[in-house]
Amino acid sequence: MTQSFSGRRLARELGDWRTSAPAYRALSDRIRVLLLDGRLGSGITLPAERELSQSLAVSRTTVAAAYAALRDHGYLSSVRGSGSTLALPGGRRGAHTSPIDLRLDFTKATCAAYPGMAAAYRQAADLLPGYLHHHGFDMDGLPELREEIAGSYAQRGLPTSPAQIMVTIGAQHALNLLTGTLYSAGDRILVEQPTYPHALDTFAVAGARMLSAPVTSEHGWNIAEAAQLIRRSAPSMAFLMPDFQNPTGLSMPAADRARLAAVAAREGMVLVADETTAMLDIDRGPELPLAAYGPGVVTLGSLGKLAWGGLRIGWIRGPRELLDRVRRHRPSTDLGTPLFEQLVATLLLRELPLLAASRTRDLRRGRDHLSGLLASAFPEWTWPVPDGGMSLWINTGNLSTSALSLAARAEGMALVPGPRFGLDGAFERFLRFPFCYSNEELTEGVRILSGAAARTGGIPFRLPLQAVI
Ligand SMILES: Cc1ncc(COP(=O)(O)O)c(C=O)c1O
Repeated sequence: MTQSFSGRRLARELGDWRTSAPAYRALSDRIRVLLLDGRLGSGITLPAERELSQSLAVSRTTVAAAYAALRDHGYLSSVRGSGSTLALPGGRRGAHTSPIDLRLDFTKATCAAYPGMAAAYRQAADLLPGYLHHHGFDMDGLPELREEIAGSYAQRGLPTSPAQIMVTIGAQHALNLLTGTLYSAGDRILVEQPTYPHALDTFAVAGARMLSAPVTSEHGWNIAEAAQLIRRSAPSMAFLMPDFQNPTGLSMPAADRARLAAVAAREGMVLVADETTAMLDIDRGPELPLAAYGPGVVTLGSLGKLAWGGLRIGWIRGPRELLDRVRRHRPSTDLGTPLFEQLVATLLLRELPLLAASRTRDLRRGRDHLSGLLASAFPEWTWPVPDGGMSLWINTGNLSTSALSLAARAEGMALVPGPRFGLDGAFERFLRFPFCYSNEELTEGVRILSGAAARTGGIPFRLPLQAVI
C-alpha cells in the first residue's frame, strides 16, 4: 500500500529547508536528502503542487520546479491522475548511490571485527556437534551465554542473575521487543535528543508520541527539566544512552543517574537504558550502570560494537516478570536467537577484557586521528573530544549538513546529516562523523568533506527557532 503525505505533514518533515540556494533547488535538495537517508520512504506519494505551495507559503512555480528537478534526476515519478511518487533511481533504496558505488560509507558507527573473531567462530564450530541435539534456537538464550552476560554486569558492580537476561538478535531487536511489550496506544515516550535514529524509527512505527529531553555537549542531560516533563506529561517509558551516548559520546554523571532513576521510580516510568555503546571506553574509566540506581531500569546490551555488528547478538536485562511478558510477545516477531551465534558470543564474553582493550586502542587511534584532521581542515567547527564512543558530534556553525552530505555523496562518500538524530528537523548544523574507521579512510573522508564544504559553503543554514543545541 502506498502512503500519501499531506502538505502539512510533508512541511513538518522538511523542517527548515531553506538555504541561500534558489528556493526550488533548496526544496528539491531537502526532499532528496530525506529520501536518501530514509526519513522519507520510497513509494510515498507527495502532495499536489498547489497543496504543498500553500503549506510552505511559496509559489506554485517553486514547487513545480522542485518536483521537476526531482523528476529529472529520477527521484520522482509522476502519473497523470495518481500524483507524484518518490522513488530511488534504479528502483531500489540508494540504488545508484548504494554502498557498492560509494567509496566511503560513514553512515554506520560500527567497527571492523575484533581480531579474535574468526578464532571464536572456529572454536564455536568445534563445539557445535555437542549442541546439535538442541533444536538450534530459543527465546531466553543459551544458559552458558546468559551466565556470561550476568557475570559481566557483576564485574561492573551490578549483581545480576542469568534469570534477569534474555538474549536477542542484537539490541535493535531487543528495543523492538521491549517497545512491543511495554507500549500501549496513546502512551508517550521520552527520548533524549540527539538520539540513536533507529530508536526514533521504532517508536514512530509503534505510533508513539515522543517527548524530547535535550542532551547538550555543554551541559549534558538537564535532569531538572526532564523531571518536570515527566511529571507534567507522564510518559510511560524513557529511552536513553547513559554511557558514551550515540552520537555525542557523552556519559551521564553518577549524581544525574541517581536523580533520574529516583524520578522514574516515583512517577512509575520505565527507564530503558541502551548500553550498546557502554563498553566503548577510551579514557573515561568505570562507571556504575544506570540499572544499579533503581529497580525500574531495563537495560539493552549488544556485542555489535565491541565484537562485530555481523554477530547479531544482544540482550535485555530486566526483572524476570518483564522478561516473561516479552517472551509471550516475542513469537509475533521471531521464534528465538540462533544457537551458533550464541556459542560464539559465549566464547567472546569469556575474553571480555581482551575485547575491550582491543576496541579501546582502535577507538583512541581513530578519535585522535579524525580530531587532528578536522582541526586543521575546519578551524571554525567545534566538537567536544569524547572520552569514549565511536563518533564526533560536530557543530559546523551555520552549515546545512543535509546539503553537505548531499555534496559529499556526489563524491562517493555517505554521511548521516544531523537532523536524522532528532525530531522535527533539529540539528541541521550538526554532523556525526564516526571515527571507527582506518586512518586512510578517515583522511580520505575529511578530504572529500573539505571539498563538499567548500561547495556548500555558500549555503549557510538559517538557524531554526527550535534548535535545541
Ligand atoms: C545506541 C544503539 N543502540 C542499538 C544499536 C543497534 O545495535 P545492534 O547492532 O546490536 O542491533 C546501535 C547500533 O548502531 C546503537 O548505536
